[in-house]
Order: sequence, then structure tokens, then C-alpha cells
Amino acid sequence: MTQKQGRVAGKVALVTGAAMGLGAETARRLAREGAIVMLTDRDAAVEAVALAITAEGGQAAFMLHDVTDEAQWQDVVKDVMARFGRLDVLVNNAGISGGFLELLTHSLEDWRKILSINLDGVFLGMRHCGPLMAVGGGGSIINLSSILGKVGLPNAAAYCASKGGVLMLTKAAALEWAPLGIRVNSVHPGFIETQMVSNALHEAENANEMRDMLIAAHPLARFGVPREIADAVVFLASDESSFMTGAEMVVDGGYTAR
Ligand SMILES: NC(=O)c1ccc[n+]([C@@H]2O[C@H](COP(=O)([O-])OP(=O)(O)OC[C@H]3O[C@@H](n4cnc5c(N)ncnc54)[C@H](O)[C@@H]3O)[C@@H](O)[C@H]2O)c1
Repeated sequence: MTQKQGRVAGKVALVTGAAMGLGAETARRLAREGAIVMLTDRDAAVEAVALAITAEGGQAAFMLHDVTDEAQWQDVVKDVMARFGRLDVLVNNAGISGGFLELLTHSLEDWRKILSINLDGVFLGMRHCGPLMAVGGGGSIINLSSILGKVGLPNAAAYCASKGGVLMLTKAAALEWAPLGIRVNSVHPGFIETQMVSNALHEAENANEMRDMLIAAHPLARFGVPREIADAVVFLASDESSFMTGAEMVVDGGYTAR
């Protein structure tokens, strides 16, 4: 597909946490659908993902970027404007699971680390990218929440709190920025086959049992794959979703339908 065609042709998109997993797949699919993509991550592996997109004929750039660092957000925004002159799509994807921790063994430090990446990072992204989008006449912001922003899971209190925060931050921003033409929606994946899930399972004492239990909690009887989330993000980034804002897009194999 050439840059002039595609569902998001010509749009400039910024994807955080794009070195692997859902962020990398989202960046690849946005590029295949014609977007110009800025990939950021605190992990240097983001460079290889950007280079692979370029090698495939897509348009991509990358920057090292920790989403909890406000000064780095300023640098990213400056760089995007210098290179591309506009920003149409922001995908606030970077996040951590924090592992399985009982509520009483969560330290305040664990709690703050999870909240700072998963929730403060999204707030900072919107705060720094929103004004750019407004100047350009609007845009689409997609915030990665989770099914665990809608329903609880034992031993994941901080993660659930952070993702529930993303859900409501999304709705409040959607209302505030609708007059600016900026749409803000959240995506709520079920368990998806990425390093985040395999690492969390690896650390669990009863990994096989837990994997089977989690799979059984999805009526479609499997974990999702990154493409299934990336496709939802491309839809929200595109004008196909032009009447959607403040919405919760659940992509969970039926996990929350029970
Ligand atoms: N995989 C799942 O089952 C699942 C389910 C629901 C929601 N999510 C959410 O989707 C997003 C992506 O998850 P994933 O499974 O691809 O995870 P992953 O661990 O495979 O990838 C996450 C990426 O975010 C980056 N990152 C972490 N902290 C960062 C920081 N402070 N600054 C910049 N980059 C940072 C990592 O380096 C990594 O490249 C996360 O927000 C996650 O909570 C994932």
C-alpha cells in the first residue's frame, strides 16, 4: 500500500511504548494504512521497529522517551512538529503490569510506579499533544486501558486502579475537547499474547494453571493477538470512527460479557 492510500493516509500519528507488543503492532498497522508514524519508547528496541516499517515502504521515525518524564514529552512534541508540522493521532499505549501483587504486599513505591506510567503517562501525553492537535483543527486520541479498567482482578489492585483512571480520564477529556474537534476514546483489551502477559505468567508460582484459568475466562477460549487490538486502534484513529468520542472499545473475546 502506498502512502497516499489507506484508512489513515497522510495522518501523523504518535505511538508510545512502540518497541514491542501492542504498540509495535499498532505502529506497523498505522503505517501500512498510510500514516506517518512517530514511535517512542524508553527501550532502544524501538529503533528496529521504526527501521523495519521504513524498510517495508512506510514512513516512520523514533525517539527514546519515558512517558513519565514531562521534559521528554516536550522534546517529543517539538520533534514531531519540526519533522512533520502537525499531529493528528496520539496512541497512549506505554504501560506496565507491575506483576501480581496482593493488596497488602503492594508498597507505596510499587503503587506509585504503576500509576505514574499507566495513568500519569496518559495525562502527560494528552496535555502535551492536545494543543498541537487543536491547532491543526482536531485529531484522535486513543488511550490503552484494559478490561481491568472495567472489572477487578485479585492481586492487580494498582493496575486496575490505573486502568480505571485511564477510562475516566478519557471520558472527561472527550467532553472537554469535543469543541476542539479532538476525539478521545479508550481501548480495553482482554489478555493478549505479548511480553507483558508472558512475563507476568512467568513470575507466577502456578504459571500453567493460571494461564489455563485466564484463557477459560475468555468465552472465545484463547488469548487475543496484537493485531486484534491494533486493528481497533486503527479504526479509532481513522475517520471511520468520526462520530465516536468518550467511548470504551472493548476487545476481549467476551471476558467482560458475563
Ligand atoms: N497484553 C495485554 O494483555 C494487555 C491487556 C490490556 C491492556 N494492555 C495495555 O496495552 C499496553 C501495551 O501492552 P503490551 O502488552 O504491548 O505490553 P509490553 O510489555 O509488551 O510493551 C509495553 C511497552 O511499553 C514500554 N514502556 C513501559 N514503560 C514505559 C515508560 N515509562 N515510558 C515509555 N515506554 C514504556 C515498554 O518498554 C514496552 O516496549 C499497556 O498499556 C497495557 O497495560 C495490555
